[in-house]
Amino acid sequence: MSSSGRNPVLLAINQYGQAEGSQPVPDRASGLAIECVNVSKSFVEVGDADLSGPDEAGVRDGRQLLLPFLARRRGRRRRVDAVRAVTLQVYPGEIIGILGQNGSGKSTLIRLMATLLLPDAGNIYIFGHDVVKEATLVRRYINRVSVEAAFFKKLSPWENLRYAARLYGLPPDRAACEVRAILDRLGLKRSKFHEPMEYLSRGQQQKVAIARALLTSPVVMLLDEPTTGLDPRSRREVQEFVQEINRERQATVVLTSHDMDEVDRLCDRVAIMEAGEVKALGTPAELKRTWCGREDASMEDVFFAVTGNLMEEETAENA
Ligand SMILES: Nc1ncnc2c1ncn2[C@@H]1O[C@H](COP(=O)(O)OP(=O)(O)O)[C@@H](O)[C@H]1O
Ligand SMILES: [Mg+2]
Repeated sequence: MSSSGRNPVLLAINQYGQAEGSQPVPDRASGLAIECVNVSKSFVEVGDADLSGPDEAGVRDGRQLLLPFLARRRGRRRRVDAVRAVTLQVYPGEIIGILGQNGSGKSTLIRLMATLLLPDAGNIYIFGHDVVKEATLVRRYINRVSVEAAFFKKLSPWENLRYAARLYGLPPDRAACEVRAILDRLGLKRSKFHEPMEYLSRGQQQKVAIARALLTSPVVMLLDEPTTGLDPRSRREVQEFVQEINRERQATVVLTSHDMDEVDRLCDRVAIMEAGEVKALGTPAELKRTWCGREDASMEDVFFAVTGNLMEEETAENA
């Protein structure tokens, strides 16, 4: 469903002087879009203090405020290894999917790539540029869209995108052109351009969120659960939109998802995370062959083969 040529504005030179659709020149010889080398990130989580006992409700409420201090005193702070020694290479122009249960570290890995978190150990390079040492430069290459994308709900897509364009420093006349082009590109009816966001379907809102990311001309799109919570039609629309962006702009896409079929259909390669580690990585066909012994297996079969085996291993270790 390619619509190349439909939108000349998107093929212009962007604000950083890069030709749209072309990948930036890598700084390191690797030529990789994203390179994670032994990346780790942990958090300190404060566990629930034991509030049982004879306390009355009021006293309990009071103690609620003291909870972090009580927890610290009782040594209930727990270190969570959200991402553990992840090494991952992403090639320019590919769509790579990350599957994993809730809490397996997908969003943390995305946030590390997006310069929103600092790794405790290891390095991440975006087109050869270190996300820590060259964060400003890296931010020109990437944009992240998360499931909780924030909008002014009472304002229209037009107003929200014009606002974002100003934040991103696009000159006003250029911004109007870009925003119109992007909204057309979304397949949003002109009548919807000026309706409050809150009247748009979830799918349309999500497409506007992705479109907003396109204002910065990212060559790496980090999409954290772009289709979670969408109805089947909206989900399909967003999936097609992601594919089109990938094809037309040769954008490298990292997407996390719980939808096995989505990842199977959309992604060139898939990583399966478990407890902060990448446990399996390959093309859907490779994963099916390796983990299920047959290429007609489903991605769900692969997922359970990978994570199920691990659960068995853990049980055996604990026994
Ligand atoms: N800011 C944070 N503070 C404390 N713990 C966090 C924070 N962000 C993530 N975690 C923990 O790190 C682990 C991985 O979380 P996350 O990356 O959000 O997983 P996923 O996106 O796969 O659901 C979880 O145990 C989560 O509770
Ligand atoms: Mg997440």
